Amino acid sequence: MQYIFIYGKNPMLSLAEINAYLEARTKFKLIESTDQFAVIETDFKPDIDDLGGTLKIAEVLTNKNEYDFYNIYKDSTGPFGVSSYGSKNYQNHFTEMIKEQMKSDKMKAGCLHTKEPFVTHTDMINKHTLKKSFEIVACSGKEFYLGKTIGVHNPYEFRKRDLERPKQRAIFSIPPRLCRIMINLAKADGTLLDPFCGIGSVLQEAALMKFKIIGSDLDEKCIRDCVANLVWLEKEYKITIDKKIMQADVKSLPFESNTIDAVVTEPYLGPPLRSAPTMKEAGQIIDEVQPLYEKALEEIYRVLKPGKRAIIIFPFFEVKGKKIRLRASTKLKMIEYFEDFEEHHKTLRQIVIFEKV
Ligand SMILES: C[S@@+](CC[C@H](N)C(=O)[O-])C[C@H]1O[C@@H](n2cnc3c(N)ncnc32)[C@H](O)[C@@H]1O
Repeated sequence: MQYIFIYGKNPMLSLAEINAYLEARTKFKLIESTDQFAVIETDFKPDIDDLGGTLKIAEVLTNKNEYDFYNIYKDSTGPFGVSSYGSKNYQNHFTEMIKEQMKSDKMKAGCLHTKEPFVTHTDMINKHTLKKSFEIVACSGKEFYLGKTIGVHNPYEFRKRDLERPKQRAIFSIPPRLCRIMINLAKADGTLLDPFCGIGSVLQEAALMKFKIIGSDLDEKCIRDCVANLVWLEKEYKITIDKKIMQADVKSLPFESNTIDAVVTEPYLGPPLRSAPTMKEAGQIIDEVQPLYEKALEEIYRVLKPGKRAIIIFPFFEVKGKKIRLRASTKLKMIEYFEDFEEHHKTLRQIVIFEKV
């Protein structure tokens, strides 16, 4: 079966996550990738809820630009959606084709109206499109692909884990969708460690992904809040979490060597900034956090099992078009890195994939 994955706002990171997610589970072939979507052939049925960086997943129906939609619309009880991605806009073409077919079958043929040539994932969730009806996606890349959507990213579920948990601290918080992407990039199962666990954003996602979780942080209050958030998650999602949460300095972690299957973490990125830093300020922040990163990387190298990955956020800054990065020396092998931008953030995130070889 071929599947279309519609990317989120960072296509390179979305594709890296999809690749890592599938590599950890199955054999697959990347048919093509554009700046909006990837087409992948695999026997494994992907689940959108496992991914942080994909907005929709669709099953490819055909490569032709016509189709008999009867089996798709026959049970529909609400307005359907048509989305078009890629160089050519097929939204009207398929909306009209489906309407005509439905009318000739004496069915009510309402469709969702959109500003863009696609229905947003948020609109689809709000309007229960996949429960009441269906969505068709028409994707033009090197080839043309017509697909039926089988899964839509639910931003409300991710937001709930961020904003409805009992303990919040905006400066210690990393978006759940990014946590999930990072965990998938680790391509692991078993025990996951976050040695800068804060109030537990990474650990929450890892627990939902069935990892045994270990979290440590220097700050005693963070540890209490992290435990409270995990207890809330257990109740909210009716799960039992295998967890060890403790106060510890990353410079000497109280864990045995070669015991951890994945490290996923956002360390201390420097002080929160109200305005964009000057070149000098950016350099000072990098100099301030560098020794902490080098010590942390030494300990992460020690506790990781050989062959396993650490996914670590590094701070970077963009001043006058120049990128100022942190370069910490480590025995870990750097595999790849990605940049993630969030509006209003003065400190930018670089997501670095390391492996203990
Ligand atoms: C950006 S927050 C971590 C966010 C967290 N990874 C999450 O998932 O929400 C950085 C954390 O680093 C902790 N920290 C700073 N220096 C540390 C050290 N030397 N050892 C351990 N934790 C430290 C801070 O207390 C803070 O909780």
